[in-house]
Amino acid sequence: MALQKKIACIGAGYVGGPTMSVIAKQCPDSIITVVDINQERIDAWNSDTLPVYEPGLDEIVKAVRGKNLFFSTEVEKAIVENDIIFIAVNTPTKDYGVGKNMAADLQHWEVIARQIRKVAKSDKIIIEKSTLPVKTAEAMETILNTGSTIHFEVLSNPEFLAEGSAIRDLLEPDRVLIGSRETTSGQRARDEVVKIYNAWVPKDRIITTNTFSSELSKLVSNTFLAQRVSSINAISAVCEATGADVQEVAKAVGADSRIGNKFLNASVGFGGSCFRKDILNLVYICRMHHLHEIATYFENVINMNNYQQQRFVDNVIRSMFNTVAGRKICMFGCAFKANTDDIRDTPALLVARTLMSEKANLVISDPKAMENMKAELGNPKHVLFVEDPYEAANDCHAILILTEWELYAKLDYQKLFNSMIKPAYLFDGRNIINPKACYEIGFNVYSIGKEALIHR
Ligand code: NAD
Ligand code: UGA
Repeated sequence: MALQKKIACIGAGYVGGPTMSVIAKQCPDSIITVVDINQERIDAWNSDTLPVYEPGLDEIVKAVRGKNLFFSTEVEKAIVENDIIFIAVNTPTKDYGVGKNMAADLQHWEVIARQIRKVAKSDKIIIEKSTLPVKTAEAMETILNTGSTIHFEVLSNPEFLAEGSAIRDLLEPDRVLIGSRETTSGQRARDEVVKIYNAWVPKDRIITTNTFSSELSKLVSNTFLAQRVSSINAISAVCEATGADVQEVAKAVGADSRIGNKFLNASVGFGGSCFRKDILNLVYICRMHHLHEIATYFENVINMNNYQQQRFVDNVIRSMFNTVAGRKICMFGCAFKANTDDIRDTPALLVARTLMSEKANLVISDPKAMENMKAELGNPKHVLFVEDPYEAANDCHAILILTEWELYAKLDYQKLFNSMIKPAYLFDGRNIINPKACYEIGFNVYSIGKEALIHR
């Protein structure tokens, strides 16, 4: 039987937009309304230029928008008219007050809870899609249900999509996680949400738990993923000191099926809007429960990432005779990873800002993220934004590869070398080029976790 549900999602960002587009595609008889307070974002969702770059997203939105997927700024109307409400608003790290720089900032969340309470006229299932501290669902239920004649059931359904592969992750998820209360109404609400996903996700990939486990599992997943990146990045420094090659080590270690071969690419460091914030969120929870040793243990995942980013840019400056002032340096990539326009917490920001403070002249290139980077850096003097990589590298002293866009692996490095000032430097922060071939062209090559290849 076709699934006919009326679903709203509050928050039309990197999660709300793609997730609801996929639900609309997979549940054609359900009506999905995505709302946001940001008029510009909603206008973009209703236009030909979507506010989020994600491979495969355009096609899906074009197929379902105006049929069973709608974007609007009418938040209260969406609350009144829908029985199932996902909430996918941003939950950044708090930058004020108690828990500053560590706890999750729940102000958007709280506003929505009170708004729902104020306008709802019938029972609702409220679903946490945002990543939140453990016990947020419980707190929200207290806000919603205390003294109310309407019943609100709050569930946790964290999102595990990664940017750049969001559509594939949503269509073929490793798992969908749904946390609910063990009460009759909790189980009933859980079954409703299971039905939505079961329209395309096999039952054995839908995991149901209690609400607290679900909330905590999301923080733990991101912490473990980030921990792997920090672990291989720590080993990259050991490789550079000892003559080992980090890609060979990762291959040998990852071949053990107990360890696995994914997420072992050494890099300039991890970025993105979530790893740092979610680890800090977990660390804060540990500190609140006086689990200080555990907090410190996970905090080191972030410390290692800061070290790796700084180590990369320090190496650039040191290798270029400790002075980059007035020298033209080209950055290939500023997105925090390939296939996204997102620059939130990207390592390219620390690299750019450090080189700017050293008075270098920067040329930044990226196929999708340049506008966001321009907005973030404020279009300063001594920074040019040039999309064509050959034009960007022309007359430069060094190229820094900061995002693993496939296009940077496929460039003609001989042609790039010919147009650069000599000695020409190549710092590969993603290990996507062939260091030996580039050294033979004439570059001084610095890869992550490999011996530097320098012409003496
Ligand atoms: P985002 O900043 O791209 O989008 C959030 C949207 O919520 C914004 O458009 C904002 O205007 C809107 N919003 C805020 N307050 C609102 C309100 N009161 N009413 C209506 N709209 C409101 O954030 P995102 O990257 O989509 O992340 C959302 C949540 O999902 C976060 O908790 C994040 O940790 C989690 N998450 C993100 C990803 C990812 O890849 N970005 C993956 C998994 C989980
Ligand atoms: C991550 C998780 O992978 C998602 O499951 C999760 O839903 C999401 O966070 C979230 O909660 O926001 P995302 O940050 O989009 O997704 O991208 P990842 O592929 O995890 O990459 C994160 C960072 O680690 C990137 O900067 C990437 O370049 C870096 N990375 C990743 C490495 O340096 N090496 C690797 O081997 C893997």
